[in-house]
Amino acid sequence: MTLSCKTTSNMLVTGGAGFIGANFIRQRLSGDESCRIVVLDALTYAGNRANLADIDPSRCEFVHGDIRDTPLVERLLREHDLSTIVHFAAESHVDRSITGPDAFIETNVQGTHSLLKAARTVWLAGSGRPHRFHHVSTDEVYGSLGMSDAPFTEEHQYQPNSPYSASKAASDHLVRAYHHTFHLEVTTTNCSNNYGPFQFPEKLIPLMLLNCLHGKPLPIYGDGKHVRDWLHVDDHCRGISLALDTGRVGEVYNIGGENERPNLEIVERITASIDAAFAADRSLARRFPDSPAAEGRPCWSLVTYVKDRPGHDRRYAIDPRKAQRELGYTPQITFDAGLTRTIAWYLANERWWRAVMDGSYRDWITHNYATR
Ligand code: NAD
Ligand code: DAU
Repeated sequence: MTLSCKTTSNMLVTGGAGFIGANFIRQRLSGDESCRIVVLDALTYAGNRANLADIDPSRCEFVHGDIRDTPLVERLLREHDLSTIVHFAAESHVDRSITGPDAFIETNVQGTHSLLKAARTVWLAGSGRPHRFHHVSTDEVYGSLGMSDAPFTEEHQYQPNSPYSASKAASDHLVRAYHHTFHLEVTTTNCSNNYGPFQFPEKLIPLMLLNCLHGKPLPIYGDGKHVRDWLHVDDHCRGISLALDTGRVGEVYNIGGENERPNLEIVERITASIDAAFAADRSLARRFPDSPAAEGRPCWSLVTYVKDRPGHDRRYAIDPRKAQRELGYTPQITFDAGLTRTIAWYLANERWWRAVMDGSYRDWITHNYATR
């Protein structure tokens, strides 16, 4: 699919040094030669300049700053003549929101409000100008589904259960309110679980993958039967671009993969893939001697059931029919292909994740939940 920059060729991308933001920037720049991006990122533990290192700086300027700095955002919008914001910046990890919720309120709620205020000041002054504020949100705002419940539509009641999802729900409401009250031109996408390159290894897929390589326990929360709707990050980014370019102002679009899997199945697939990769390539045993696969033993032997995440949502699933109907959105990457590609990326980019692990990751991987 060719992506265009119809809304504008200049945009502010918040949180562009994070996982999804960095993938969005790559996809957007490769889809349109005229596209220019200013990235605003505070470089928290999850933000990484290396995620953008190979991008032409004449097309993508990096600004180290906080979305809560309203005057800075106003200045960036004016100086760079930006009329589009794609807002990714957030505290994004549910477990961290349980151990330390404050940062989630500060960035996800206050930070989103600060951006909205700046956009309103700059874009709606006088007779106003064409603009778009696109808010990137999550399916977690809808709460937890029972196993036989219908997937989340855009009309589903908000029932956030973690400090993370509550803070994202608050940000969604603020975006909606700025449209309703001030006529700020907004769109919102609520997406399911992403995976792919550059994902910080605290999230399920990269955590399990790297623990397999290091021979560390694979911590399964609770019974491991919690279900998520997995989507390759490139498909999420396509959905965001479609909403940005062709979505109706004021609308919300749910983006998902129609790919529901219990956590144990995800871990089983990762362990089997790593076992097969070691069997096919003997150099992996030399690179990762602590992996059971280095000695021909299954990585599944590392599975360790641990105490459940407090308030753990049982199931998420997206009904993507509105996005299909109105945006022509369909995921293009099957789970098998996406997972294979992702595992290959982590095996080929050891330098990237080693650098990540030198930071806060090392403390985090030891895990705060006791083994049952
Ligand atoms: P991430 O944690 O990988 O990246 C977040 C980025 O935001 C980092 O670069 C960080 O430095 C930056 N940031 C944090 N606080 C900031 C602040 N105050 N000012 C400026 N920058 C700040 O997150 P992600 O997984 O890429 O998620 C991006 C967005 O997509 C989030 O809004 C998240 O809620 C949403 N989302 C994520 C998923 C998923 O599966 N990862 C799914 C649906 C929606
Ligand atoms: O649904 C979209 C959301 O998906 C995004 O909004 C969040 O930003 C993103 O982090 C993700 O949230 P989850 O909590 O679903 O993702 P996580 O990778 O943390 O966990 C996925 C599932 O795996 C969940 O049921 C918890 C479980 N899990 C996770 C980890 C890290 C384990 O069993 N063991 C683990 O070590």
